[in-house]
Amino acid sequence: MAEWAIAFAPGRVNLIGEHTDYNQGLALPFAISDGVTVRAAPSGDGRVHVNACDLDAHDTFDLADPGKVSGWRAFPRGAVGELRATGASLTGARLEITGTVPRGSGLSSSAALEVALCLALLEVSHAHAPDRLELARICSRVENDWVGARTGLLDQIASLFGEADRAMRIDFRSLEVVPVALELGDFRLVTLDSGERHAHAGETGYNQRRAECAEACELLEVESLRDATLEAAERLPAPLAARARHVITENERVEATTAALAEGDLERVGELLNESHASLRDCYEVSTPAVERTVRRLREAGAIGARIMGGGFGGHVLGLLPASATAPEDAIEVRPGAGARVIR
Ligand code: GLA
Repeated sequence: MAEWAIAFAPGRVNLIGEHTDYNQGLALPFAISDGVTVRAAPSGDGRVHVNACDLDAHDTFDLADPGKVSGWRAFPRGAVGELRATGASLTGARLEITGTVPRGSGLSSSAALEVALCLALLEVSHAHAPDRLELARICSRVENDWVGARTGLLDQIASLFGEADRAMRIDFRSLEVVPVALELGDFRLVTLDSGERHAHAGETGYNQRRAECAEACELLEVESLRDATLEAAERLPAPLAARARHVITENERVEATTAALAEGDLERVGELLNESHASLRDCYEVSTPAVERTVRRLREAGAIGARIMGGGFGGHVLGLLPASATAPEDAIEVRPGAGARVIR
């Protein structure tokens, strides 16, 4: 029996900095302990056989010609296709996928899956692994070109660069990743499920928002919204002015949150989370009634800050709770954990 290679990649929580990644902006995420595990063994037949254990679903395809399909099968096919396109010499494999991040939850199950697949495929093939930033780009291409969600690099970088006790400040223009100590004292960060699931592929609000940002850049004659001023953005037609306003002020909130964390000012972090939520709801318009109810539940439980997380349109809500607050029973405490790794 062949030895199994095993790779694990975590999901992420984004403390703040939403919809900034594809606008060359800033974000402050951390990897969590939940994630996706992929076990891989050589198949010996030049084909890839995938078992999505949690879905009780299977797929088989040729290593040399993965072919494009929709749904979860696009991930393993895309991982093989993109790794081979970089020149990685892969062998046929048997893959088993299991995970603990709910799909469409805003906790980045997609990136966890892409990263774990790539690491396991490289390991079982004894292929040279690219550096982590390059791996993040490869995984992002899987999501953009195979799955059809035009997402940025936030989730893949967070999954690959995670560290215990630390968030990371990502600058998506320079791709500089700087660890930021996340010292919460008596406070806790929790996520609470809105019960609503999203998909970001195809004709969805996510891809639409991305197109609106591109249109705003064209009108402003800037390469990205990172280069736009609030003053110029306000002259854009609706809804582009509001979209740009969100991105520009969200970058400022990332800087302010980083500074507040350095000063141990958790009250200020809470305020910034609330401001981020208001901007995502009113300017970026990615909230839903179920998300609003979930934000209210967290605030009623005593959260000093609560906001929608990830791409929006459902998923988990993030809350910052002081010691005096009792989290709702179904809330899950989250803290920064280690990044993606080959276990064997
Ligand atoms: C999703 C995407 C990320 C990012 C966030 C919003 O999680 O995958 O690239 O755009 O939404 O911040």
